[in-house]
Amino acid sequence: NTGETKMMVEAHELLKKFYHHLLVNTNEGQKALDYLQDRGWTREIIDQFEIGYAPNSWDFAVKLLSGRGFSLELMEKAGLIIRKENGDYFDRFRHRIMFPILNHHGDTVGFSGRLLGEGQPKYLNSPETAIFHKGKILYNFHQARLHIRKHQEVILLEGFADVISAVQAGVAHSVATMGTALTEEHARILRRNVDTVIICYDGDASGIEATFRAAEVLTEAGCHVKIATIPDGLDPDEYIRKYGPDRFRRDIIDAGSSLMAFKMMYFRKGKNLQDENDKIRYIEEVLREISKLPNPIEWDYYLRQLADEFSLSLSALQEQLNRYKGTVK
Ligand code: UTP
Ligand code: MN
Ligand code: MN
Ligand code: MN
Ligand code: MN
Repeated sequence: NTGETKMMVEAHELLKKFYHHLLVNTNEGQKALDYLQDRGWTREIIDQFEIGYAPNSWDFAVKLLSGRGFSLELMEKAGLIIRKENGDYFDRFRHRIMFPILNHHGDTVGFSGRLLGEGQPKYLNSPETAIFHKGKILYNFHQARLHIRKHQEVILLEGFADVISAVQAGVAHSVATMGTALTEEHARILRRNVDTVIICYDGDASGIEATFRAAEVLTEAGCHVKIATIPDGLDPDEYIRKYGPDRFRRDIIDAGSSLMAFKMMYFRKGKNLQDENDKIRYIEEVLREISKLPNPIEWDYYLRQLADEFSLSLSALQEQLNRYKGTVK
């Protein structure tokens, strides 16, 4: 129903403006603004991303929206308020920093609200609604689109704090999923706009695991994948704060490696390649990955690399590779 979805978007736009106003112009929002500025975000970037503050109230949105003539029933469907058993409504987002989520048209279709400190859940997201689909939305895609086209690549990050910091660091072609795994739908949207996707997820164990999965989905969709790895278990936002924007651009983004080089680095971890067993396991793991590559030129390239590094004959590696190709899907 287009009338209803239009009203839902309008309600989001209205709340977004009020939340932003509360953050930047009122005493009520001062603590939230301090929090954001302590994170290193400038007033300019806070304005650009229209970040706001949802006050510590059970009925701020309820009153604002009903006062403006929005149907509360519809506002519940929009995920902005919640209905109690007795029929009363209350605000979903309270005392949180509000990040508006825009779709690719630039319509505000959801929010993610962050606690001002530690606690659970750290981020509270809008539920799935008629206008908000987590599996399709990429945070900042609307603003990044032209930069993505111009650079002929897109930087895929894990969290929107990372996107905001990356954009502030001058990497405007940055997007993130909404805390969910990258879907085929996300991959198709990216592929329609660009050839190369640089995955730059958090440097912790779950970020590395998610990198493998996202790389597979993107490769399936026909994207060329590169990996930018963050050291010491940091995430991009933490890295930028610690080492500054120049190093982020130079040592992380511009230094991105091929997917295979990333996998090789990963398989090397915890192994001693002087040790015979470790060495053989490593070679097998790499061969298995090579066997999944679609392109014979790539097989040849990486086989030669392995042969050189470990003084092996190309024919032995080739034979083993053929075995894997028979067994791998
Ligand atoms: P992270 O835990 O890495 O958060 O989750 P972050 O992006 O570094 O956030 P800050 O720096 O602590 O503010 C990555 C993403 O997972 C989703 C969010 O989309 C977040 O950006 N997430 C995380 C949630 O949806 N809910 C949560 O409670 C936590
Ligand atoms: Mn640019
Ligand atoms: Mn993480
Ligand atoms: Mn993180
Ligand atoms: Mn973070």
